[in-house]
Amino acid sequence: MNTFKSLLIAIPISLLFGFCTSSGRIIQSKSNATKALKDYYKDYFPIGVAVTPRMLHGEDSALIVTQFNSLTAENAMKMGPIHPRESDYYWKDADSIAAFAKKHSMRLRGHNLCWHAQAPSWMFKNEKGDTVSKEVLLQRLKDHITTVVKRYKDYIYGWDVVNEAIDDRDSVFYRYSAWYKICGEEFIAKAFEYAHAADPKAVLFYNDYNTENPKKREKIYQMVKKLKEAGIPIHGVGLQGHWSINNPSKEELEKSIQMFSSLGLQVQVTELDVSVYAGRQGGQLIQGQRRDTATGFTAAMEEPQREKYKMIFGILRQNKNKITGVTFWNLSDRYTWLDGRGRKNYPLLFDVNRKSKKVYWDVVNF
Ligand code: XIL
Repeated sequence: MNTFKSLLIAIPISLLFGFCTSSGRIIQSKSNATKALKDYYKDYFPIGVAVTPRMLHGEDSALIVTQFNSLTAENAMKMGPIHPRESDYYWKDADSIAAFAKKHSMRLRGHNLCWHAQAPSWMFKNEKGDTVSKEVLLQRLKDHITTVVKRYKDYIYGWDVVNEAIDDRDSVFYRYSAWYKICGEEFIAKAFEYAHAADPKAVLFYNDYNTENPKKREKIYQMVKKLKEAGIPIHGVGLQGHWSINNPSKEELEKSIQMFSSLGLQVQVTELDVSVYAGRQGGQLIQGQRRDTATGFTAAMEEPQREKYKMIFGILRQNKNKITGVTFWNLSDRYTWLDGRGRKNYPLLFDVNRKSKKVYWDVVNF
């Protein structure tokens, strides 16, 4: 082959795969350099991230668009923020997240429609300040769910309909929330029915944490089984995935995925982070526990975190036929909701400078 012909072939090939420097070293090709979480996992499940509207600009936004193909609003779609007064919805933040997802062709999960936390106090009171009746509360829940779900019908493919309705204590079944106190367990089925009526195509989830705790898992299992058997439109269980360096075990994680999917439900990890502090309840401080003062991300934190993430993603990949999404709860260690409990945390795959941690490579090299 003459020199001219071989050059004609070599140039486009080098454009495709990278360039040889004079020292013969190959500079990583563009396509390789931009391979990101969502690409490594494209044959497995979408990879999402929880965001605030502020993150949709600048460096955070670049990282979001490069690495992820699904979004969840960290707070903007919760009842309190989006429905601060009975006659008043605040759409701006949620709309901006929905528009961003659409613009970048990302999937969007709705979070959430009914929760004991971040619920507006007006919801449970009448104008005199007395607790409302069950009928009034269910009507308000219906109005809320119908309005919010309809607004985002063309953006959101699935909703966390009820969040954290099961109690953590072994001896108590349902959480004694304002919803439960006023309505009994019925609010759960009703919430799913209202959501389904508002968007019959939406995939509807029950979402909770500590789903690998055998006793709590059993209660969740019994509840969703009962809902399914009663013909309530529930399609999935969200394992929040607020895990930590010592929780969950491989066996318990596998068991949770297996148990919920045995009911014909899809499983998602909806709020993944791996706290660098040991502890139950997603590494949150347990009352009375010593408040560690972190001086930075140490090797003693990094090693067990890498092991835990490797285990988790190994199990998730093995179960890809059951898992329909994995979402991280926040983008990088620069900001995480686990900060501010008397210590800084480092639970994510990107560091405080938004650079990939070693654990990132553990998760994508398989
Ligand atoms: C958290 C947010 O990250 C915080 O910003 C907010 O102050 C409290 O809620 N389970 C859930 C999420 O379902 O909605 C919570 O998000 C974390 C625990």
